[in-house]
Amino acid sequence: MQDTPKLTKYWDEKSGRMSLILKNGERPLRGIVVEDQYPAAISGILCFAKSGGVAPVATASGGKILWKVANLAPGELKELVYTSLIRDALEGYAPKKPTPADAALLSSTASLPPKLTGDVETPAKAEERPALKPPEEPAKKAAPARHAVVVAVGAGKGGTGKTTFSINLGVALAELGNDTILMDADASMSNLSTYLGMDPNGMKATLHEVLAGEAEPEKATYRIFNDHLRVVPSGLSIEGFLKMDRSLLRDVIEYFSQEADYIVIDTPAGYNRELALSLAASDHLILVLNPDEGSMTDGLKVQEMARILDVNVMGIVLNRYDMKNPYFSRSQVEAHFGTPVIAMLPDEPEVRRKDKVPSVLAAPSGLMAAEIYHVAQKISGQKPPACSPSFVSRLMLALFNTASL
Ligand SMILES: Nc1ncnc2c1ncn2[C@@H]1O[C@H](COP(=O)(O)OP(=O)(O)OP(=O)(O)O)[C@@H](O)[C@H]1O
Ligand SMILES: [Mg+2]
Repeated sequence: MQDTPKLTKYWDEKSGRMSLILKNGERPLRGIVVEDQYPAAISGILCFAKSGGVAPVATASGGKILWKVANLAPGELKELVYTSLIRDALEGYAPKKPTPADAALLSSTASLPPKLTGDVETPAKAEERPALKPPEEPAKKAAPARHAVVVAVGAGKGGTGKTTFSINLGVALAELGNDTILMDADASMSNLSTYLGMDPNGMKATLHEVLAGEAEPEKATYRIFNDHLRVVPSGLSIEGFLKMDRSLLRDVIEYFSQEADYIVIDTPAGYNRELALSLAASDHLILVLNPDEGSMTDGLKVQEMARILDVNVMGIVLNRYDMKNPYFSRSQVEAHFGTPVIAMLPDEPEVRRKDKVPSVLAAPSGLMAAEIYHVAQKISGQKPPACSPSFVSRLMLALFNTASL
């Protein structure tokens, strides 16, 4: 194996793509930046990466593309690709072959060498350093890179309460002192930011721009409610939706996972690619279901998808559960799915408040908050705050539920 990382570039005439192959040498590297130039005259640029592990995040503007590669293991290979972005009248923005004019422009830059910068340490550089004195005190170990626990919230059926639950779970994890990212992966029918009362005009960037390669992921994060919670909203415009490259969703989730303890992903309804991409990057799935037939059938499909993708199905949240007159009992649901019910949320009109404050903050001593903190405890192992009378609430719930069996 060679000592230093190697970066090669080639133009693939057949696919109309420029490829940069980054192959690491023998030592692990962190914080690498790959820079390349593209002809600014082309109609648009689309960058993506074909690689395993933590994928790089690309940004492109004004003829310059930057890929940030957080970690590169010894011998690891990343393929960084770009091509021109074509607007197709029927399909919106589509990563197809470039036009002949764009292909000619792109191929003319194939001989321009890309640059590798950042924390790239060659053995020669390391040898030039003065010899290190033996440490007087035991050296402190460098903090290991974080890797967030990623929890997807899904259902299959629309309107079961995924967004409402995701918000409350994200807030509860943050209230317990965990750095939490709440991500709206429902890129087509996004409403998480609306539920939180965020002003779309005040948002510099959203997940749409990140997935279009137009914004750094950090630019699309917004602190809300407490210092530990950051929201990554999806955009509300159709144009933004059309230009994004969904296949980067997993890379973006992996990128954020290096700077948070937990990521809660609000996934879209349906059985689709966004759901699969969100699940593929998740450690756990929580199903938010209503106790009705439609919800049960669709929920089973999502559970099946999670199992195929090797995602742990942590449990079911039964939302809008009629405690006195349940259509399905808790034990029936558990038997149907072979999965535990980890929370039962009552039908609570106060859940949508004019002031947009989530239930865990607006009514911290209520049943809804107690149940959501119970899920947060299951994820983090941390006890709920003292103001949440979870014991009494859960006892009441157990009594109701036993009565309904
Ligand atoms: N426990 C509850 N009690 C009363 N209303 C609720 C409850 N949970 C959610 N709702 C309401 O139900 C509606 C749908 O909720 P929400 O948007 O969270 O569902 P969703 O599964 O994210 O929907 P979609 O599939 O469209 O993304 C909203 O109006 C919300 O305020
Ligand atoms: Mg939703």
